[in-house]
Amino acid sequence: MDQNSDIISTKPFNDQKPGTSGLRKPVKVFQQSHYLENFVQAIFNTLPTLKGARLVVGGDGRYYNREAIQIIIRMATANGLGELLIGQGGILSTPSASHLIRKHQTDGGIILSASHNPGGPDKDFGIKFNTPNGGPAPEKITEAIYSESKQLKEYRIAEAREIDLDKLGKFELGSLKIRVIDSVADYSNLMQSLFDFDQIRDYLQGNDRRIAFDAMHAVTGPYAKQIFEQVLNCPPGTAFNAEPLLDFGGGHPDPNLAHAKELVKQMFSDNGPFFGAASDGDGDRNMILGRNIFVTPSDSLAILAANAAVIPGYKHGLAGVARSMPTSAAVDRVAEKLGIECYETPTGWKFFGNLLDAGKITLCGEESFGTGSDHVREKDGLWAVLFWLNLLAAKQQPVINIVQQHWQEFGRNAYARHDYEEVESDGANSLMEALRAKSSGLIGKPLGAFSVQYADDFSYTDPIDDSISNQQGLRIGFEDGSRIVFRLSGTGTQGATLRIYLEAYTQEKADFSANAHELLKPLAEIAAETAQITHFTGRDKPTVIT
Ligand code: G1P
Ligand code: ZN
Repeated sequence: MDQNSDIISTKPFNDQKPGTSGLRKPVKVFQQSHYLENFVQAIFNTLPTLKGARLVVGGDGRYYNREAIQIIIRMATANGLGELLIGQGGILSTPSASHLIRKHQTDGGIILSASHNPGGPDKDFGIKFNTPNGGPAPEKITEAIYSESKQLKEYRIAEAREIDLDKLGKFELGSLKIRVIDSVADYSNLMQSLFDFDQIRDYLQGNDRRIAFDAMHAVTGPYAKQIFEQVLNCPPGTAFNAEPLLDFGGGHPDPNLAHAKELVKQMFSDNGPFFGAASDGDGDRNMILGRNIFVTPSDSLAILAANAAVIPGYKHGLAGVARSMPTSAAVDRVAEKLGIECYETPTGWKFFGNLLDAGKITLCGEESFGTGSDHVREKDGLWAVLFWLNLLAAKQQPVINIVQQHWQEFGRNAYARHDYEEVESDGANSLMEALRAKSSGLIGKPLGAFSVQYADDFSYTDPIDDSISNQQGLRIGFEDGSRIVFRLSGTGTQGATLRIYLEAYTQEKADFSANAHELLKPLAEIAAETAQITHFTGRDKPTVIT
């Protein structure tokens, strides 16, 4: 322990159980005395070797990011860690933090983010630990952190000066080394090693090739400015809302049709850009749009997998693919055609980690606007955007043609997610219990015009370490390939959020030009009736549809 360190007595908070993606709470909760400190100490206590440990630290720049990093620095020196690599200004996108952990072979990293949740003094903050492979800690480790947090009696923190996070360079605090690094350059180089930037640059010079990227006042702003406007020579303004703000400009930094309104309006207008995309608070999500078309994340994953051979970084083929359970089965059809394995995992990126590390999969994704590959161990928003641009350049085709051709070949998995946010936890839990109780009885029965093929509570056995995750969502699968899934969110911070995932499979040409919501209406009605949504939640419609 360093000289000016204090051992502070504390008592456990009993609500520090990490959810789908780390510990996420309102800022006010994190600002309570000892709250953040306890959790950081719990992380430190679970490191295999604390003394001399090297960690990457950075966040999405939201309110409380800088304060939290100063606390982590003071605790790191007091606990005898060896080195912290910190993004300039305290900012690192989640995928670039993952890259830095891998590149510098650190003992892991601490990422400060509540992802797509709004930011500001009355909004959310979050913290999560990533392991040395660059990925979110698996359940075994998050459980260990949680149990540490429940028995914590003290933490260590040094009285120390503030470190200037804006200045690149090396600092020392006691025996702790601190390196403030420019993460944009590293990340941009990684992207250039995967995609044909010359081909993309040439393609974007053509007529009517204006693109638009909405950084939603979040972390990808500086990355997008550098990559699109400097490296790819796009005109200034291509990346808009590009200045990261503490409260994301008051918006909800979630790249979907409901929240990236400005971009969506441009993409569905005359003379709009021919390609548009957006990313979320911490830069791991993406939304892809062509002129007058929105690509569902499930379709996006399937299309990237089907066309990976034209992309330099993936031209040698895919080892396999994976999708989270609620994600549509579009990619399953591609995997079947390619003759590769398709894994179905529970919701949350951490479940892809083992498969990626074992070389079982190359691409993976989630319906919740997350797509990624084995280049890092997080989903990666800008990576997906660059993959699409490289695809358009290689095929010399607009987004709409690529999507339509894909449906012609594989059929269409029309898809939507209906979220009922901030419902009462008791009601939401009762809804799930009631549905669970009756689900096996549905098998073989008709529901509306559909016939139930299977109905179960999804359980996953990790093929690499055999760990088992139960109760990961209720599925009702129909004989024609359509499906309804019910799940409670593990990232919300108020009450419960009920998610209903609807998927209708069709090979009818007429359905390829139909509105997804029209195609999904019968399934939405079945979902409402079977789960008695209004009865249990008091709601007659979802809060948001994505
Ligand atoms: C949500 C998404 C999930 C994603 C996670 C973190 O979790 O549904 O796919 O991995 O955010 O970005 P949920 O709130 O559903 O538990
Ligand atoms: Zn995110």
